Amino acid sequence: MFKICDTTDVPEREARSFETPDGDTIFITQRDGRFFAYQNLCPHLQVELEFLENQFLDRDQEYIECSTHGALFFVETGECFSGPCQGQSLEKVDIEVHSDGGIYLID
Ligand code: FES
Repeated sequence: MFKICDTTDVPEREARSFETPDGDTIFITQRDGRFFAYQNLCPHLQVELEFLENQFLDRDQEYIECSTHGALFFVETGECFSGPCQGQSLEKVDIEVHSDGGIYLID
């Protein structure tokens, strides 16, 4: 199992991007003490979501936002509920938090 980072690397209501050993770019965000990870790829045009480093959330840090056309996604499910890809979803990445405080990729 590959350790991506520590839980302390991803503060509540913030997001951070990481590279996987397969070369994928993913991001992890924390909401109410739970961690959610997705591929950094917008389902609209298959481009990366952020213009600025680690800027994956909207201004209120409530939803995941694509910087290109402003699509909004629920943090917990990755589903787009507003924007050109409404009804589509971000690709979830399976992760697990271990007792050592690490966040691991599940293969
Ligand atoms: S590329 Fe993400 S909303 Fe268009």
